[in-house]
Amino acid sequence: MSSARLYDSIGTTYTVTRRTEPRIAARIWAALGDARSILNVGAGTGSYEPPDRDVLAVEPSEVMRSQRPAGAAPCVAAVAENLPFADESFDAAMAVASVHHWQDPIAGLREMRRVARRVVVFTHDSSAAGWRLRFWLTRDYLPEVANLMDGRPSLTELASAIGARTEPVLIPWDCADGFFEAYWRRPEAYLDESVRRGVSVWARVGPDAEQRAVRSLSDDLASGRWAERNRDLFDLDAAELGLRLLIA
Ligand SMILES: C[S@@+](CC[C@H](N)C(=O)[O-])C[C@H]1O[C@@H](n2cnc3c(N)ncnc32)[C@H](O)[C@@H]1O
Repeated sequence: MSSARLYDSIGTTYTVTRRTEPRIAARIWAALGDARSILNVGAGTGSYEPPDRDVLAVEPSEVMRSQRPAGAAPCVAAVAENLPFADESFDAAMAVASVHHWQDPIAGLREMRRVARRVVVFTHDSSAAGWRLRFWLTRDYLPEVANLMDGRPSLTELASAIGARTEPVLIPWDCADGFFEAYWRRPEAYLDESVRRGVSVWARVGPDAEQRAVRSLSDDLASGRWAERNRDLFDLDAAELGLRLLIA
């Protein structure tokens, strides 16, 4: 299934749990520098679009486009791999939590580089050694996530395709945007169906793996086993879970 079709089927409740996390937005907006005209690629419902700049959004999913709030930046139906804009049309292009969905991420990043003088991407480094073990949810409950990354380019390959530098982004314990890793210190949240429906990973691993993971997490929370295994997280206010900014 193409990613636009995936979001047409799973995106209907996206805004229940997904919204701009101000501390991550501050990092993205700082990386945009003094850019005035911004292209937001894989823009979804409009999270992270800077309110004080001239933004144009690109989003292939009709369901996602239809949930953009009144007054949001205008949005074009297109994909990253084939941006319908002339070279250097924008001061900057940004993409947030989207690159891992693109059919050809390297082509999409090169397109962003072509149409904009600056590129800022928020994504995760899923190829780093030990990544799967870093987050308890994938390590102990949902190892199937690793299969979703098979054949995908590494962060190093993505960065070198556009000559980007990378910066780590720590996830605050009370992250407002409910992406996959957001609830690392609030494990009960993953038992909530509406939290899971806001994250494509759960749809992609399938209902059997999802139900098994939820049952097993629920048991471990009730027995105290989760707390025992993860007590080192209790004192952390932010966690390094492989989230990165690419800046070119
Ligand atoms: C997890 S959502 C992120 C949306 C938004 N950027 C945010 O931060 O909430 C991923 C988005 O990427 C879009 N997408 C999937 N494939 C794409 C492609 N090839 N080009 C551009 N966007 C794509 C999806 O339709 C979806 O809206």
